[in-house]
Amino acid sequence: MKIITTPDPRLREKSEKVRKIDDEILGIIADMRKLSLDWEKEHPYELSAAMAAPQMGVLKRIIIIRDDMEDKERATFTALINPEVIRADGKVEKSQEGCLSVPSIYGMVPRHSKVRIKAKLEDGTEVRIKATGELARTLLHEIDHLDGILFIDHIKGVKDAFYEMDDKGDLIPVDYDAKIAGNKELWGEA
Ligand code: NI
Repeated sequence: MKIITTPDPRLREKSEKVRKIDDEILGIIADMRKLSLDWEKEHPYELSAAMAAPQMGVLKRIIIIRDDMEDKERATFTALINPEVIRADGKVEKSQEGCLSVPSIYGMVPRHSKVRIKAKLEDGTEVRIKATGELARTLLHEIDHLDGILFIDHIKGVKDAFYEMDDKGDLIPVDYDAKIAGNKELWGEA
């Protein structure tokens, strides 16, 4: 298992619902946790906040979310199965986003600041989650992956929204016309 990156077409597909939480599904979730932490070891300036199953080429509606986004030492994740946005509202705010599947590109992405989600936990319990701020943003970003949507899609054509990380971990604005528009590595052939 490895994390797939743009322009891999699997990142653009719609994932299917999980019908039954069996050993196969629990195995996929275990792989997701492991891959997130492996990625973090290779990216010293970043925290692996979340990931979606299609990011490892598994087209199932499963995401994992870091329980503590501040403390790198607390490396536990909650898995959400068949997560659904029931409502996204509140002010639309712009904030920085990156993605394990979009290497070294970051963006200022507008999203609703309040969200209500329903999902199942690994043990089959149905949960409803109310989230705001960064957690709301992360949930929306991950659920987008299940429908083949990447954060870059929300800012396509927005010339001052893209950044790159330099080797010190600082974000530097990227020239949109030169490096983003028409970049097949980023957008694929479509
Ligand atoms: Ni992502």
